[in-house]
Amino acid sequence: MNIIVTQNYDDLSLKAAKHAAEFINANPGVLICFAAGNTPLGVFRELVDMHKRNEVDLSSVYYTGLDEWVGLGIEDEGSCIKVMHDALYDFVSKENVLMFDGLDPDTEGQCRKAEDWINRHGGIEYALLGIGMNGHVGFNEPRTPDVEGCFTVSLDDTTKSVSMKYFGKELPVTTGITIGWRTLYNSKKVVFLASGKEKASITASSLTGLNTPDIPASLFQNHPDLTVIVDKDAASLIDI
Ligand code: GLP
Repeated sequence: MNIIVTQNYDDLSLKAAKHAAEFINANPGVLICFAAGNTPLGVFRELVDMHKRNEVDLSSVYYTGLDEWVGLGIEDEGSCIKVMHDALYDFVSKENVLMFDGLDPDTEGQCRKAEDWINRHGGIEYALLGIGMNGHVGFNEPRTPDVEGCFTVSLDDTTKSVSMKYFGKELPVTTGITIGWRTLYNSKKVVFLASGKEKASITASSLTGLNTPDIPASLFQNHPDLTVIVDKDAASLIDI
């Protein structure tokens, strides 16, 4: 595991964007998985700026959504599809992106469609992931089953209460749809991001604590190509 500790969030965003851009430039045609959530928003801002300066061609690779709140669509504030389009995918060729449609009642169909997209592109080459407050990755919640492919999940209470920060109001979300952890683990390169004091405890448990499905992020500790980019605040409890 390669841990990069940055001074602050802006520095984290710049370093992670450079890391992703370098990978995209060297690997045209591959499939990338970017997490939504608040942490990578600065990375996406930097990537779009680099794209505009012709330092990276964001349409030279393909993208898969990581997860979605079942019941929310592109018009809904805080849905992963809206966040990702506003932040990044509106700058990318439409046919290069597949996100889950949280409004489709056929969640099984959504899972099979995403699996087919991932398989058709030869699996995920680069996954940029966040760490949830309960250690979830995508919507692989605590005590996650070892799932290859995609599945629907009953959301953990912590996830439900944290969700307010995305929606700006209380929404009765109960279910998520996500790429399973095994498929994420099989990504060639994995990058984790964490920022802020509130992530310090779960970041330390995820990176240096027990390797356990109780903390899905910890299951990546032995990944053969794992880079962790954390700011000083999120790294404050890691014993490096
Ligand atoms: C959210 C999403 C994840 C995200 C994680 C961390 O609930 N399901 O895709 O990576 O939790 O989010 P944030 O970066 O906002 O802390």
